[in-house]
Amino acid sequence: MKIHSRISGVGSFVPPKVYTNHDLEKMMDTTDEWIVQRTGIEQRHWVDENTSTSDLALEASKQAIADAGLANEDIDMIVFATLSPDHDFPGTGCFLQEKLGVSDISVFDIRQQCTGFLYGLSLADKFISSGSHKNVLVVGAEVHSKGLDKTPRGRAVSVLFGDGAGAVVMSATTVDDKSKDSHIMTSNLHADGSFAKELWVAAPGNALGPDRMNQAMIDENLHFPQMNGKTVFVHAVKRMAETLMKSCAEQGVKIEDVDLFLFHQANLRINSKVAEVLNIPEEKIFNTIQKYGNTTAATIPLGMHDAIKAGKLKPGMLVASAAFGSGFTWASAIWRQ
Ligand code: UT7
Repeated sequence: MKIHSRISGVGSFVPPKVYTNHDLEKMMDTTDEWIVQRTGIEQRHWVDENTSTSDLALEASKQAIADAGLANEDIDMIVFATLSPDHDFPGTGCFLQEKLGVSDISVFDIRQQCTGFLYGLSLADKFISSGSHKNVLVVGAEVHSKGLDKTPRGRAVSVLFGDGAGAVVMSATTVDDKSKDSHIMTSNLHADGSFAKELWVAAPGNALGPDRMNQAMIDENLHFPQMNGKTVFVHAVKRMAETLMKSCAEQGVKIEDVDLFLFHQANLRINSKVAEVLNIPEEKIFNTIQKYGNTTAATIPLGMHDAIKAGKLKPGMLVASAAFGSGFTWASAIWRQ
């Protein structure tokens, strides 16, 4: 019988310290009104100085593994999605592996930003379906707060991002009844590097000349994210709708068949536009941006866990997910929870 993958455990973690929009008013020349109206964000969680991306990931991963009824040593692959790694190299997946105390397994780091979790889910699904791996930990985790310009100069980007982690365990399964049994049905992954510099961090980088990092780059702010917000916005709406329709069409799924939409959370207005374009009732979209901001690769598993805790996502439900981010990258997936 054909092997499929399913989501067998879910976990999440956000650092305890909350920064409201009013807290940000004191740091950068911004207002609660501007942030809420333009993005929907009310607050975000930011780490303390001693916490790193793999620390957040560890907490989320431990929960996901326990939720799957497994022990750490049952995990045979880690796929770690982040744009804010603990160090340049090795990948943060290796630091997480060490913290989980599991040896001799496969570890990937994925660098697909806001789309990273769906790329990871798709990769894990393919490895499991091939029969080579049984229980894959897919993690999205970010510490944005240490890499943001928290002065008025950085306000256009820095108000948007929060720290957090989400994790799922994906396990091998067989499917008797496609309309009931938990499994990943499809995923579609896309990228267009001609837009790479519309949302990026230039430095450190060896494409910049003789140095990867120097004082001139710091003076020019090249070590902070730069974004052309309007371009990103327009492409996000178009591409998320497009890829979602592709996944639905492949599976013969109609929008009205989907029980819950787990979209990336970059801007409440992006998700409302996607809902408008595809005629999705707003109450079927589970939004978390209000309390977390944009947590990039962590967003979708973090939202999944919150939806489960809120009783909005139950086993057997049909879930559709889509994301868009830096690269540009975008992706969608459909699964039965
Ligand atoms: O996860 C994927 C990555 N990110 C995204 O998908 C984000 C996509 N883009 C967006 O969500 C929106 O473009 C933003 C929320 C980033 C910005 O919204 P906007 O409506 O495109 O605003 P804008 O950048 O055109 O700025 C409008 C005004 C400007 O002032 P002037 O020139 O009109 O006087 C900005 O200087 O708002 C000003 N502004 C701010 N004011 C207060 C920009 N940032 C702030 C701020 N607080 N934080």
